[in-house]
Amino acid sequence: MTNMELATFIDHSLPKKDRYGTLATALSGLLDGEDDFLANQANAVALIFHSFDFHWVGFYWVKSDELILGAFQGPVACTRIPKGKGVCGTAWASESVQLVPNVHEFPGHIACSALTNSELVLPLLVNGQVVGVLDIDSVFLNDFDQDDIEGMQRLMNLLLAKWRK
Ligand code: SME
Repeated sequence: MTNMELATFIDHSLPKKDRYGTLATALSGLLDGEDDFLANQANAVALIFHSFDFHWVGFYWVKSDELILGAFQGPVACTRIPKGKGVCGTAWASESVQLVPNVHEFPGHIACSALTNSELVLPLLVNGQVVGVLDIDSVFLNDFDQDDIEGMQRLMNLLLAKWRK
């Protein structure tokens, strides 16, 4: 199978941990030989979005004192998030993963979509600095667990190895 085929036909019946393993192989293949970071982040979110049933998957990148929307898949979203605001701004300010089983109980959650019920946000660090966040929304309550954190971190490590401002 080519990298493109592998990336297009992720088996949704695979257990989640195995799916992340396949995704890591597929993403490595897609990133191999490509240095354009917009192209790479766009393929990374497309790969993740089409491998699960998430409502929204995308990046926000740190620009000056706020996060600005990057490549994403899903409904249109808010474009700017201040540091410390919402789940994304909290992940940036605290430099910690935000696993939110119920967004309606997260103080200051920014509701870009009324359909979102749970959310996972990973801060993305390069040389010890947060350069952005990966944000994933689900319509299901409590849709994320430790396997998602580890799986997504593995994918982000591959992408961030090719980070360019
Ligand atoms: N819910 C996020 C805002 C971004 S959207 O979910 C795409 C937050 O509270 O930071």
